Amino acid sequence: MNEYALLDSGHGRKLERFGKITLDRPCAQAVWNPAKPQLWKSADAFFTRKEGLEWRGRDKLPESWKATINDVTLKLSTTDFGHLGVFPETREMWSWITKTLATATPKRKEPLKFLNLFAYSGGATLAGAKGGAHCCHVDASKGMVQWARQNAELNGLTHHPIRWIVDDVNKFLTREIKRGNRYDGILLDPPSFGRGKGGELYKIEHALLDTLKLVKGVLSDKPCFVYLTSHTPGFTPIVLNNLLQQLLPGGTTQCGEMLLTGEDDTFPVPSGTWSRWIA
Ligand SMILES: C[S@@+](CC[C@H](N)C(=O)[O-])C[C@H]1O[C@@H](n2cnc3c(N)ncnc32)[C@H](O)[C@@H]1O
Repeated sequence: MNEYALLDSGHGRKLERFGKITLDRPCAQAVWNPAKPQLWKSADAFFTRKEGLEWRGRDKLPESWKATINDVTLKLSTTDFGHLGVFPETREMWSWITKTLATATPKRKEPLKFLNLFAYSGGATLAGAKGGAHCCHVDASKGMVQWARQNAELNGLTHHPIRWIVDDVNKFLTREIKRGNRYDGILLDPPSFGRGKGGELYKIEHALLDTLKLVKGVLSDKPCFVYLTSHTPGFTPIVLNNLLQQLLPGGTTQCGEMLLTGEDDTFPVPSGTWSRWIA
């Protein structure tokens, strides 16, 4: 089931439907003309960064609502930064993760172990759980981990084996290597700029090579995949692919753009990049 759709884009904005709510938000890469100007009046709320961060119509929205996006149900809510608790460009990846883990599971004696790093509101963690994997969800923000746990509840996965970790990714991985914990599938979506649990500065151009080396250190001896995504300018599909190929020689790599997509006649909107290594 999917209740997300990109309805239109253009003039630096995107019009998206999330369940019963339609939102009009900034989208710098949509430099073309909107295709359906008449549709934009249907927006329930509008977000702008022109003169500081500002929502218009937010008072008419519920404090939170639910939407099922590629079979994962999420609690959504407008944050002051314009985020909602989901990055819908990752939804095709969720379906891939569920399918890949579910396909690999019957061939193993033990359930597969899936690690989601920089895991935000947990869409990918829950996709992994739906694929039958035992999951580990890591994010430095306590509030986001709480939000992800609420999402697990909405999906009936409260009792599924998911470890919920509030920690800095590099510190967590260093400890996991020492503890001997290993994972068959790993996803990482490093931010351009972020802060660890103790306020540690994370800048992708300096920290990513260390993170990737640590990721290799927690990969099981029967790995399934490593999935790397990015929203940082300059981190093109080929850049991510080169990083994974160098880290994990052998296997297969694939890469591409993450896209916001909707109805057939809507332009897809590039919204980040991905590369995956498959053993
Ligand atoms: C862009 S979001 C990731 C989006 C998510 N992967 C998704 O697609 O839904 C970045 C996340 O990384 C977390 N983060 C930033 N720096 C971190 C760090 N050093 N260690 C752990 N988490 C961090 C933030 O709290 C935030 O939830």
